[in-house]
Amino acid sequence: MGRIKGSTQLTCIIGSPVDHSKSPYMHNLAFEKLGLDYAYMAFDIKEGFLKQGVDGLRTLNVRGFNITMPHKQEVMKYLDKIEEDAKLIGAVNTVLNDNGKLIGYNTDGKGFIKSLEERDVKYIDEKIVLIGAGGAAKAIAIELALKGVKNIVIVNRTLEKAEAISNTINKNIQGSESRSLVLDEKLLKEELKDANILINTTSIGMGDTIDNNIINDRDILHKDLFVADLIYNPVKTKFLSMAEEKGCRIMNGLAMLVYQGALVFKIWTGTDMPVEVMKEMEKRNLIE
Ligand code: ATR
Repeated sequence: MGRIKGSTQLTCIIGSPVDHSKSPYMHNLAFEKLGLDYAYMAFDIKEGFLKQGVDGLRTLNVRGFNITMPHKQEVMKYLDKIEEDAKLIGAVNTVLNDNGKLIGYNTDGKGFIKSLEERDVKYIDEKIVLIGAGGAAKAIAIELALKGVKNIVIVNRTLEKAEAISNTINKNIQGSESRSLVLDEKLLKEELKDANILINTTSIGMGDTIDNNIINDRDILHKDLFVADLIYNPVKTKFLSMAEEKGCRIMNGLAMLVYQGALVFKIWTGTDMPVEVMKEMEKRNLIE
């Protein structure tokens, strides 16, 4: 790190845990490639210490920071301004320090949309079905609705959580008609008949559930569906393998991760993340 100087601007990620974050590698590589005088670190800030953490970053006059679990919601209390989409999502994953003013953004859903666009997947006039109703589903569904997607269906084991997202969309985003239903394969099959995009946002298929699939009946899928899984470790979940066997186009969660990072990079530096860095991130597969 011989490139760190007195003038180097600090960026970082805060959360707990943060030691497996891919962001330090990605941003530092991009800073280096472009010769930008910035550096990126990861700081483990435990629950209960967020306010002190943000105050500290403010005092140190960092250029910006990313926020991950468990602070994405609470951090909103300590910022000076929050972008409208992040307010609707109810979570901030990126902060820019604009001359002492901390501005909150959410790049998660926009990163997912960018990964669709990069693959020339049409989505505006299409029917999109999301499985799961956690933070990632909420960010993606709200950004899709803000882009003008009208037909968004949220399917979840706990119906109330899906309904909460649909209600937020329908109340706040004109022209949207989001619906929700409980996770039931028969209902899902009906719903998917005229759908174009299906996204698994649950954690089923990774870690302890690596051998599981969020759906059991492969005939639920049809070959014209574009199927995405937000999981990227493993590279291909059981869910994506099933979709591939059905002849669907598939995408894992790595693209979303890289594109949300590229959006962060642009917010902090005003510069596009080099395509070669993004390609390398996707190629390396980031699984160490
Ligand atoms: P994130 O914020 O990363 O999106 P999360 O908030 O933990 O993750 O959300 C996880 C999602 O996976 C939830 O929608 C959860 O369903 P519930 O709302 O019913 O809890 C879903 N999920 C987790 N385990 C599941 C399982 N075994 N079957 C079905 N859905 C599951």
